[in-house]
Amino acid sequence: MKKKFWLLVGLVVLLLNCLPIKAHGAEKDEIYERIQQSGELVVGLSADYAPYEFHADVNGQDKIVGFDISIAEKIAKDMGVKLKIEELGFDALLGALKTGKIDLIISGMSITEERLKEVDFSDPYFVVQQKVLVRKDDKNKYKTTDDFKGVSVGAQKQTTQEALVKNEMTGADLTSLQKVPDLINNLLNKKVNAVVLEQPVAEAYAQQSKNLAIASVGFEQGEKVTAIAMPKNTPELKEHVNASIKTINDKDLLTGYKKKANELMFQEDQSFLQKYGPYYLSGAKYTILLAFVGVLFGLIFGSLLALMKLSKNKLLKALAVIYIEYVRGTPLLVQIFIVYFGTGVVGLDLSKLLAGCIAVSLNSAAYVAEIVRAGINAVNKGQMEAARSLGMNQKEAMRFIIFPQAIKNILPALGNEFVTIIKESSVVSVIGVSELIFQTGVVQGASFKPFLPYVLVSLIYFALTFCISRLLGLVERRMGLND
Ligand code: ARG
Repeated sequence: MKKKFWLLVGLVVLLLNCLPIKAHGAEKDEIYERIQQSGELVVGLSADYAPYEFHADVNGQDKIVGFDISIAEKIAKDMGVKLKIEELGFDALLGALKTGKIDLIISGMSITEERLKEVDFSDPYFVVQQKVLVRKDDKNKYKTTDDFKGVSVGAQKQTTQEALVKNEMTGADLTSLQKVPDLINNLLNKKVNAVVLEQPVAEAYAQQSKNLAIASVGFEQGEKVTAIAMPKNTPELKEHVNASIKTINDKDLLTGYKKKANELMFQEDQSFLQKYGPYYLSGAKYTILLAFVGVLFGLIFGSLLALMKLSKNKLLKALAVIYIEYVRGTPLLVQIFIVYFGTGVVGLDLSKLLAGCIAVSLNSAAYVAEIVRAGINAVNKGQMEAARSLGMNQKEAMRFIIFPQAIKNILPALGNEFVTIIKESSVVSVIGVSELIFQTGVVQGASFKPFLPYVLVSLIYFALTFCISRLLGLVERRMGLND
């Protein structure tokens, strides 16, 4: 008993010791070393921000482009390593940096006091003004920040724009959303009356939509300095990033980068579907994959849980009950973040897709466990008694008599679970798994059309779930006939 206790203490101490090593390299710059060793620089960003970073069609291929990307490419080239882009929601970037998922954030991020407590910043590469985007008809209605009392104003979640609305537009009614295209959608549909954006982004939308315009409203703290965020205590990494920024500033490379980004922003030659169909197709593939993996591993793990719950062993039963209740009682969104960032904290480096699959499977296991348990319980008690009186033992009776009948109850419910996951897995888009909802965001950003992509994706979801439900109905009827 004592031995076990000390073993446990030892393990905990070991674990705690491992934690900081990954997050901050002490004296030596371990992150820079790792980049050199792997030959890969991982840059995190939120590609909903033209002309900084956005999706565009380059020679028939979807690419993330923009002047931030040009900067990232330059830094990687100067370091002599390959560039890898990780796309996440803007509000997930700092967490990803702190848990070692990414090496740098290059996402139009401004330097702020709060962020400096968590991460380090490079030298600035861009100074930018904050602007208020409104519907063209309202352009003259708003002149100063005081004109927004009781007016609903949108901003991207956890950005400096959000802070500006709170601090300077007293009395305004703030709507914070995760993606910029959603904000524009709200503005066009009169759900909000103004959106605070950085000048280049505001200009991009004002140019693109004839219904939008920039109001002549100024902010006191409207000037923000854009830089690259990196983990704390990474002196070598910082030195290299700053060296590249110095070249960019000295040679004024940014002007060229911006021009390139602008050209990519408005290229209109194919039809919407031609251009963006492939995004949806690849999104649908991931959505189906997630549902498939979720049901398969959910079934394996869920069956185990169901048996534990049905077992006579009190401990096993309790464990299963706790797991099932906990998972069913917490949002999938939270579970996804726990799996994705939690594994980073303990030093496991899971890809977004793998983390997404694991989270969905763990979640679905709890629901499948109940399906399996109910399926087994629904088999008439007399069946077990009959099997036993034929001389079978408990195991044999379960295997040859109970399970085959239980499966008939379970299969249809599993099909429903599949349909459910197809819809629920949309939440996985928060960590950047490119399933349908994620791709919808990409299409919104790339096309500057905020509404149409949602209509399309809803049709795709419906087509998927409708077909699968019909198919299941068919199978069910077949099984009914075989009775
Ligand atoms: N500059 C603002 C900030 O740091 C907004 C940046 C948003 N970036 C993006 N890629 N969506 O808070």
